[in-house]
Parts: sequence; structure tokens; C-alpha cells
Amino acid sequence: MKQKLPLAEVYTLLGSGPVVLISSSLKGKYNIMPIAWTTMIDFEPPIVGCCIGDQSYTFQIVKKTKEFVINIPTVKLIKQVYGCGQASGKKVDKFKKFKLTPIPASKVKAPLVKECFASLECKVVDTRMIDQYNLFIVKVVAAWVERGVKQPKTLHHISGRRFILGGTEVVAK
Ligand SMILES: Cc1cc2nc3c(=O)[nH]c(=O)nc-3n(C[C@H](O)[C@H](O)[C@H](O)COP(=O)(O)O)c2cc1C
Repeated sequence: MKQKLPLAEVYTLLGSGPVVLISSSLKGKYNIMPIAWTTMIDFEPPIVGCCIGDQSYTFQIVKKTKEFVINIPTVKLIKQVYGCGQASGKKVDKFKKFKLTPIPASKVKAPLVKECFASLECKVVDTRMIDQYNLFIVKVVAAWVERGVKQPKTLHHISGRRFILGGTEVVAK
């Protein structure tokens, strides 16, 4: 028997893509923020939707610069991922505080995060849903993935400090 789920908890069932770290840059200063709410929209060029709350410093930066990098961490970075979501770049240099290493990207000013196994350089291609939904539609203009990484143990957010661990591949017959 199914029981009623409060509408306020629906997000705990659907927000299951990997948690990513959004890195951004404004006037030469870097910031970093975890988000769970992303979605693929098209294959090629790869178009992605990212929901970046307007209370965040990242929102202010990317609304201005129209670019950022989506970095994908594994469970090894769980402390940093959670920690970066508790502090704002308005007050803290999170790269420094969480010992993360920015490295130059090829097509955007925002940096790649060295410790993440994959990084996607993105440019905003549609601003129509920013004001209503905080939804940035971006095109991935360059993509990087660490050589030899198989079945990475990605983090999938449930709520608060709770995550589901990715990494087990199954193949349908
Ligand atoms: C696991 C996790 C997932 C999060 N997902 C989102 C999200 O999808 N969208 C969002 O706006 N904030 C999300 N947050 C909250 C932001 O990361 C948080 O507000 C952050 O401090 C903003 O940083 P900034 O002010 O430096 O940009 C998440 C936090 C955590 C820990």
C-alpha cells in the first residue's frame, strides 16, 4: 500500500542526478557551490539545465558572466561537497577553505576543479527561465574526464546530509 507523500518531499525522490560543483569566476575571484538540481536537455550539442537559487552568490556571478563549469565529484569529496553548500562565497574563499584546486579552463573564465573526475565548461544559451525558476539553460562547450575512471562513486542527494552512492553499473538484457 502506498501512503501519501507530502508535496514538500517530492524532491527527495526525483533529484537523483549526481551532485555537481558549480565553479564560477568574477573579476579574477573564484567561487564554488554544490547543486543537485540539474538535468540533461539535449544530446549534441549537450544542453543542460541547472537550478541555481537566487539567494546564492553563484547566482549573482553567473547571471552576470553567463558561464560556469559543472564539476562532478565522487564520494571522496563528500566533506567538501557538503561544506561548500553551508558557506557563501560572499564571505569565504571556498577553494582555500576546502583545499580544492582551481585549474584554467579552455573556453570560459571559470576554473575546472582538479579534484573532480569530470568537468564541463558551460555557456548560458537561454536566459528566459532565470527570473521565474532560477533555471540556467547552458551549452557544454568543452568536456573533460579523468582517464581510466570506471564506475565513479558519484553522490546523489536525498536531503540534508543524506546521499545515495552511485557507481554500480547494470546492463539490461
Ligand atoms: C548536496 C547539496 C545540494 C544542493 N543543491 C542545490 C541546488 O540544486 N540548487 C541550489 O540553489 N542550491 C543547492 N544547494 C545549496 C547551495 O550549495 C548553497 O546555498 C551554497 O552555500 C551557495 O553558495 P554561494 O553563495 O557561494 O554561491 C545544495 C547544497 C548541498 C549541500
